[in-house]
Amino acid sequence: MLICTTKKELREALASQRTGGKSVGFVPTMGALHQGHASLLERARKENDLLVASVFVNPIQFNNPEDLANYPRDFEADCRLLEAEGCDIVFHPEVDEMYPEGQEIEKFSFGKLETVMEGAQRPGHFAGVGVVVGMLFRLVEPTRAYFGEKDFQQVAVIKDLVRQMGIPVQIVPCPIKRGEDGLALSSRNALLSPEARAKAPFIYATLKASLELASRPCREVKAFVEDRIGSCPEMKLEYFEIADPDSLQSVPDEQAAHGNQGFIVVWMGKVRLIDNIRY
Ligand code: PAF
Repeated sequence: MLICTTKKELREALASQRTGGKSVGFVPTMGALHQGHASLLERARKENDLLVASVFVNPIQFNNPEDLANYPRDFEADCRLLEAEGCDIVFHPEVDEMYPEGQEIEKFSFGKLETVMEGAQRPGHFAGVGVVVGMLFRLVEPTRAYFGEKDFQQVAVIKDLVRQMGIPVQIVPCPIKRGEDGLALSSRNALLSPEARAKAPFIYATLKASLELASRPCREVKAFVEDRIGSCPEMKLEYFEIADPDSLQSVPDEQAAHGNQGFIVVWMGKVRLIDNIRY
């Protein structure tokens, strides 16, 4: 596996390895890799001739400096996982390499996709994601790029990004990977105390239990989820929304949840956990 830390090295590595029209599968990450990332890498490995990953904690998508400072980083462990998944090239730049002073940045707006839920709670987050993923796509020019559906809204934003950029990369959304206890795998899980980690599966258990109410008005489903999470002293609900899976716009309270997507964010201490489910 080749580790590139500069854009130049990456371009050269790609030019020499991407011969004869080879397809390139790309998995962009912020590191702290876990089995969720492994499942993306595994799929990308199977579906492409070359496998490229990036490990870059993108500062401009964090609206909270504490969250950025606390974001878990372990590049050596990441490399072991990437190697085991058959990655050919990993791009691991420093912040200055990605954002050199004075260099103009290609920016995107995502309209209503970025003003709701994660976009509303984390102002600037999707703008930052758009910048970095746009830069990475320009550099790697992947055939296919793989993203986990835990970040469901991010997948919608990235599909829109590709549309705006007019590039032929195929976005491959991959199902959420869960622990045996149901907790959606996330790099942030590593920050949970053992007690919080033991309680955290209650989030998905609640979403699953709420499926029973799929034919009921959203108001009832929301009340159910809010009450259950509210009953758990270790958890603080940031939001639970039921939205159209394409437009991501909120479904009216009197309409049935069926066919829509439930989105939840829960704080456990200083750790922000996110999950979603299809009704
Ligand atoms: O999902 C992530 O890990 C990040 O948002 C991404 C897509 C790698 C961009 O920094």
